Parts: sequence; structure tokens; C-alpha cells
Amino acid sequence: MKRKIGSVELAWEEASQGAPVVLLHAFPVNRGMWEPQREELARRYRVITPDFRGHGETGLPVRQAGLPEEDSTMERLAEDVRGLLDFLGLQRVVLGGLSMGGYASFAFYRRYPERVAALILADTRASADTEEGLRGREELAAVAEKEGAAGVAERMLPKLLGASTHANRPEVVAAVREMILTTSPAGIVRALQGMAARPAAFDLLPKVQCPTLVVVGEEDTLTLPTDSEALAKAIPGARLEVIPAAGHLSNLENPAAFNRALDAFLTQVRL
Ligand code: MLT
Repeated sequence: MKRKIGSVELAWEEASQGAPVVLLHAFPVNRGMWEPQREELARRYRVITPDFRGHGETGLPVRQAGLPEEDSTMERLAEDVRGLLDFLGLQRVVLGGLSMGGYASFAFYRRYPERVAALILADTRASADTEEGLRGREELAAVAEKEGAAGVAERMLPKLLGASTHANRPEVVAAVREMILTTSPAGIVRALQGMAARPAAFDLLPKVQCPTLVVVGEEDTLTLPTDSEALAKAIPGARLEVIPAAGHLSNLENPAAFNRALDAFLTQVRL
């Protein structure tokens, strides 16, 4: 589905009935990464997966004459999600995000804690970027501008997926490459700038009041399992699940284990 929500033509997919579960994707892929969860969870939940601005089928906003270009900060991504929930008439949802989706979930929770029935934070971290991380963002933005999404795919694929997936699941590597190739260079650059501008979320963690599941692939080298351990420790009552044989895109690399963790968590949450 696609609708004008705020300043963007926002695309999303919705499956089935039941309590709403909104899943926010990573950078620089799109809602397609949630396919294994849509298939499984849609038996019991209303799974809603939007494409962030500049990713998948969601465009970037058209520039208004005389105004600066709109950025893709995590707050802006969170507002796009809020606009979608308003359009769908959903006051309260389970909100899950992987990596950049997790950063946007922090921004959403900061603004609208009453709209979050439960949180799922996968392969994400509460820290802001380090100096080295910021330099890496600039370098990758230059690659996107010079070589397009193909150059970004080449640089990112080794890090996005774990060693087990690279060794044993070439079809997953190919599917992730395809997703990256559909992301526009402008969408990539704005998301990189948006992530670079994000604040740390450490202050928020002890204030989180809803049930929270933290998930991480055991082979994740982008957001280390130790980051997730720290995240789970800092959020009152949070549960940590480590997904075996999976890297950064743990939901896609070991969907069976990821879905089991999600299902066990969701059945315990009052929605
Ligand atoms: C992501 O997977 O969303 C990105 O790798 C996050 C990041 O670059 O910080």
C-alpha cells in the first residue's frame, strides 16, 4: 500500500488481523527484509512493515521552493511512522526495529511512549556514532554519490551478514544485495546523515516502561552482542535473545530462531 503521509509517499505492507506489530527495517535495505517474520507472525498478528523514506518504495519528499531539503533524521523517520499509525487508526502497537529501525524506535519511544505496548530492539545500539563512525558515514556517502547503490552494497554486504550466511546461504546474500540496489543514492546519503546526527539513547533506557525484547545475531560485527547485553541490562526487565549462526540481519539469517524468540516474547505481552 502507498499513501501520502506527511511529506512523503509512504509505502508499507500489512498482513493479517490481530494485535498490531510494526517492524522497522535496517539501512540500506527495505521492508522486504521482514518477509520471514511477515509469513510466520501474520498467523496471529497484524504485521505492518513500512519502507523508510528514501528506501524501498517510499520516496524522498519533494523539495518545496525556498525551503531546505528535508533530512532523514531518526526523529523524522519516527514521525513518518506516527503518521502511518494515525492513518491506520492505531493508538498502541508493538514496535520493533532492527539497527537503524532500532534507532528510529528509540526516537519514537522518546516522543510517544504511551503508543508503545512493547519494544523489540534487534541488532541495534544506544550509543551515538564515534568519530571513526562519523568518518565512515562520510566515506560511504561519497561512495553512494560516486558509485551508486552498487558500491554501497559491495562495501556493506560483508558487514551486514554473518560468516555463516556468507558461507552457507548465497541466496540470502543475493536477496540483500538486490534490496540494497533498489535504494536510491540520495536515500542512502540522507539516511547516513540522519544516523550520524542521532543522539545517544542511554538516558532513555532506564525510563522504558514497556516489556522489551533485545535480540542480536551471535556473529553480528556491526552492533556487537556486548552492545545488546548492555542494552538489555539498562532497560528494566528486558530480555536478551542471542540468535545463533546469524550476523547483523539476524531476522533474515536465522528466521526460525528469530521467530521463535519473537513469538515467545509476544505471547507473554498483554497487547
Ligand atoms: C543498519 O543496519 O541499519 C546500519 O548498519 C546501522 C548503522 O550503520 O549504524
